Amino acid sequence: ATRKIAVLVGSLRKESFTRKLAKSLMLVAPPTLELEIVDISQLPMYNQDDETETPPVTWTEFRGRIREADGVLFCTPEYNRSLPGVLKNAIDVGSRPYGEAAWTGKPCAVVSNSPGALGGFGANHAIRQCLVFLNMPCMQSPEAYIGGVAGKFDGDTLKDEGLKTFLQQFMECFATWVERHAD
Ligand code: FNR
Repeated sequence: ATRKIAVLVGSLRKESFTRKLAKSLMLVAPPTLELEIVDISQLPMYNQDDETETPPVTWTEFRGRIREADGVLFCTPEYNRSLPGVLKNAIDVGSRPYGEAAWTGKPCAVVSNSPGALGGFGANHAIRQCLVFLNMPCMQSPEAYIGGVAGKFDGDTLKDEGLKTFLQQFMECFATWVERHAD
């Protein structure tokens, strides 16, 4: 059986390295995973006052997309040693109404990156803090902190063969992880 994976990208900019990395992960993933980027750019900032009988349609659609996924792959840059607000907002939107979080129980993995040397370690673990509360089994190992990301691409093409091999292994482990926690 194939498993549907929602891919979240924590950067909105056009030439985002995070999005390039996410697309590279999708390309090397085993065929049992059906990966799709779920857009988070149109989600209004979470406001509990809008949690009425008719919440913003973008929230409802996003929650639906997460609910129908078998797993989630978080790809993120690091902003001020933490996760970007846009990704935190998506996590918050998907976590409500209280008791009806779309995330609950979904197996997931986190890939962080940075042009810098630390590979977004702070962002990676800030996300994991949310995942504990959301009760999402998060793959512990392998970890993915992709440093020096600006030098890894030729346009949109991943040119670093070592990184490509690592991403492939990462996605194989993730497929196993999803299978173990599915249903
Ligand atoms: C950054 N950047 C950054 N990098 C890092 O390694 N650690 C950090 O804490 C931060 N903080 C930070 C804050 C803000 C507000 C911005 C805009 C940027 C740099 C960041 O890694 C770089 O801009 C990446 O290219 C962003 O990822 P995308 O957009 O290429 O996916």
